[in-house]
Amino acid sequence: MLIHREQFFSVVQRFGSALLTGAVTAGVLVSVVVGSSGVCHAQQTSTREQSTIIMPESERPKYTADGQLIPFSPEVFREWIWVGEPLTPNDLNDGEANFPEFHDVYINPTAWREWKKTGTFPDGTVLIKELTSVGSKKAPSGNGYFQGEFTGLEHAIKDTKRFPAEAKGWGYFSFGHKYPLKTQAAQNPFASCAACHVANAKDDMVFTQYYPVLTAGKGK
Ligand code: HEC
Repeated sequence: MLIHREQFFSVVQRFGSALLTGAVTAGVLVSVVVGSSGVCHAQQTSTREQSTIIMPESERPKYTADGQLIPFSPEVFREWIWVGEPLTPNDLNDGEANFPEFHDVYINPTAWREWKKTGTFPDGTVLIKELTSVGSKKAPSGNGYFQGEFTGLEHAIKDTKRFPAEAKGWGYFSFGHKYPLKTQAAQNPFASCAACHVANAKDDMVFTQYYPVLTAGKGK
């Protein structure tokens, strides 16, 4: 039972201190102390819950028993927030770009809302890079690069408990650059993915400098 100090003092005022024997006073004081420590504990719990973002089931990564990541399905991530589309065409990269060629990048909606609010990526952020080839270089609108077929898929996942501090809590996974894609993948070693992101990405391992949607949406 919680008794607030104000209630305690109003009881004292209404009935007069003469009515309170030493024993009753001690009993009420004990319940005030227990009551206020209970309130305090409840406040700490709710603050902790607020700082940990709970991701909905559809945005949570799934791993196999041996820690391989199962990719999010296109039906799921193509409904997320699309943040940009860098392009590294083969014909500007000696015939074979490292990541050919269009890179469509998506972020999960809960992480996007947190980014807009605080300008940070919470644990549970998922960034998807879906690759497509250059199809045509001519369209009714002019000469250029136009998307062809889907070719590849990469995931970056922030989970500071699961992934090493060296990679700032991010894990990198590649499901291949050719269809059919892998149906599961082990985490890539630091040198093959994370090292370049650590060295060059603007915001917490993410290349926000190439995504105007993220730059414009960043919260303070
Ligand atoms: C040599 C540097 C380099 C390496 C190595 C590298 N990346 Fe990236 N990555 C980039 C750059 C630059 C971008 C943004 C522009 C772009 O897509 O070309 C990016 C973007 C991404 C994105 C989109 C979100 C973001 O962080 O901007 C994902 C996901 C991603 N990379 C995954 C991977 C994976 C998985 C590997 C390893 C297989 C990898 N990267 C290796 C440079 C690199």
